[in-house]
Amino acid sequence: MKRSFEGKSVIVIGASGGLGSSFAKAFADKGARLLLVGRNEEKLKKTAEQITGDITTAVFDITDLQSIKELKNIVKRWSAHIDIVVNASGYDVRKSLAEHSYEEAKNTLDINLLGAILITKAFLPHMREQKGSTIVHIGGFADGRLAFPYYSVDAASRAGCSHLLKL
Ligand SMILES: NC(=O)c1ccc[n+]([C@@H]2O[C@H](COP(=O)([O-])OP(=O)(O)OC[C@H]3O[C@@H](n4cnc5c(N)ncnc54)[C@H](OP(=O)(O)O)[C@@H]3O)[C@@H](O)[C@H]2O)c1
Repeated sequence: MKRSFEGKSVIVIGASGGLGSSFAKAFADKGARLLLVGRNEEKLKKTAEQITGDITTAVFDITDLQSIKELKNIVKRWSAHIDIVVNASGYDVRKSLAEHSYEEAKNTLDINLLGAILITKAFLPHMREQKGSTIVHIGGFADGRLAFPYYSVDAASRAGCSHLLKL
């Protein structure tokens, strides 16, 4: 297999999730060194155990400003150069708007939108100075352009995230 990411430093946020763990494995298979981020240490370690390579785990909550500041410090020590940040975190509630609790609506906006904003603000200034660095937010529902019954809060959070492209 071609190790086309050899020597690249890749941060995967939401690395214990379905998509995040698959991305992490794919990057590691191609030679990247990885920093895996999520809130649950056990789940992250389980993901790391299934991957071979240069893997570090970091327990952080992307909706918490202090946590993001600490993540930035960890990242500085981990690598002078960040090649790719993949934000594969997410929170999905499938209910009508009326049935959403306050907590469900807040979590959807906090994780899918505020988290993406805080990650971008934390890493973009440094990454802009580097050539070829990329931040990817996985998003969903065609970035909010598609809205179905039971997905309205989710779709609203995705639409907001898509505007981060217009920095
Ligand atoms: N699966 C698909 O086919 C698909 C398709 C299109 C889009 N998407 C979207 O892509 C995203 C990921 O999907 P998935 O299926 O992989 O979801 P998942 O299995 O539920 O994984 C979500 C990940 O996000 C992490 N996370 C949640 N809140 C966090 C926070 N505040 N700080 C840090 N990490 C946090 C979770 O880890 P902890 O709970 O340990 O923090 C977990 O690793 C979702 O937004 C989903 O809607 C998925």
